[in-house]
Amino acid sequence: MAALAVGASASARVLDSSDRTFSLPGVRYMHKIRLSDTTLTPRVEKLPEGLRWNDRRKLVEGTVAAEGDYVYNVIAGADTVPVHLTVSSSLPMPTPMMGWLSWNVVLSNVSESLLRETADAMHDKGLYDAGYRWLGIDDDWHCGAERPADSIPAPDPVRFPHGMKAVGDYLHERDLKFGIYSTAALRTCDNKFGSYLFEDIDARAYADWGVDFLKYDYCWVPELNIGDYTTQEVALDLYSRMRRALDKTGRPIVLYMCEWGTTRPWEWAHKAGAPMWRATHDHRDGWYGRRLNTDPDNTHLGGQGVFDIMNHWRHFSQYTGVNHFNDADMLCIGIRGRGKASNLLLLDVTYNRPEGVFEKDGQRYTGMDTEEARTEFAMWCMWSSPLILSLDVRDYISPGDLAVITNPELIAINQDPMGQSADFVHERDGFQLWVKDLADGGVAVAVVNMNDTAADYTLDPADIEALEAGTAYTLRNLMERSDDGRLDGPRKLSLAPHACKVWRLAPVR
Ligand code: GLA
Repeated sequence: MAALAVGASASARVLDSSDRTFSLPGVRYMHKIRLSDTTLTPRVEKLPEGLRWNDRRKLVEGTVAAEGDYVYNVIAGADTVPVHLTVSSSLPMPTPMMGWLSWNVVLSNVSESLLRETADAMHDKGLYDAGYRWLGIDDDWHCGAERPADSIPAPDPVRFPHGMKAVGDYLHERDLKFGIYSTAALRTCDNKFGSYLFEDIDARAYADWGVDFLKYDYCWVPELNIGDYTTQEVALDLYSRMRRALDKTGRPIVLYMCEWGTTRPWEWAHKAGAPMWRATHDHRDGWYGRRLNTDPDNTHLGGQGVFDIMNHWRHFSQYTGVNHFNDADMLCIGIRGRGKASNLLLLDVTYNRPEGVFEKDGQRYTGMDTEEARTEFAMWCMWSSPLILSLDVRDYISPGDLAVITNPELIAINQDPMGQSADFVHERDGFQLWVKDLADGGVAVAVVNMNDTAADYTLDPADIEALEAGTAYTLRNLMERSDDGRLDGPRKLSLAPHACKVWRLAPVR
């Protein structure tokens, strides 16, 4: 597949951060202002009551108490860009989705019994209590490659003997949300019928089934012959068609876009009424992805490892906010090489081997190691990415993996009600430093050893602009759930390859 160019309209932007933002009333709000022309210095005007301009950090911050729609302006050179802020306690996705999707380990074996057993396991294994509530059926639920003669979508009658509404009812009875999958084209990625030109009829069926979210994919859009699929115009048109159809049903259904970051969806997804969207190509169960090319930004198709996604994320973290989430794809933690689609880092595999793909060169594929899986989970939390598990939760989950995915202190970072993503600060000595602003005025800091060997790093508070100079901070080690003393000057640390440390910092007053 050729390189994917960014949609033409993207280059005309003045603001290189979002012009559509959301906040919960009475909760700290933050909007980082970055400009496409980095030689210009931004300023703002007409801020609503409760917000102020932080000129040192070039961001708007504060708290708006009253619900409502507000507009303020960012001024950059000769341009004035209005920013629309909605403050509301009834947003569709105030904090990132936490849930599970079938694709990585189940592939085409998705069924009613699988969903029922998965729902039960979410409760039995403490995942529901940890916050995972949204369960989605990915591709291959369909009755075939073609839709039925009456055009109304139907699931495979053998694997879904009681129809989709029975699945939705089972989940709802257990206080879980129900998700389904389709594409904005005539076929799904795995060659079942898609929703293009059938949006109304499909949306109606999903509403009748009790669907709460729709993962809406982008494969086969090129064959529609409706224009350049890498442009924002084409993508917005296709996603808006489905958004309108969903709205017509009267049922609130979250639109979860999945065009893999092809058209910089963080710039426009709100126009299609989508509070979350895939920002990356498919993530696989590994540290390094499929090295298809030497593109430093990983804008090509192909499996992405944790390493690749970390290097990609630094370009758009500033667009993340409440009800506005970049998604780093399903988590592979806990799969431990037992997946199917998640094992596609092996180049010589047959895509749909139902038993999965476990071997390469006679060696069993084991996926990410323990440190890599912990780093994966920690970074998804740091970025406010949706936390969508894809391991088989019915299967054995090691106590260590279960402790990570249910770790309330890491999850609290992910679910922070200010909704900011960590920003990339630097890579030094092969270590990446990421810092996330939090609603309580504190920050979370992640240090990741990107080296393939154990190595040393010095964490220097002077590198963290969110900290107040001359103030000491307490360090809470979120992975270990222990106190690590104070950060009042540079601190040396040693980390295993691909391992991370994540701390929550609070000022000592
Ligand atoms: C695409 C998506 C995946 C998954 C598959 C299903 O590759 O990116 O997440 O939904 O399609 O076929």
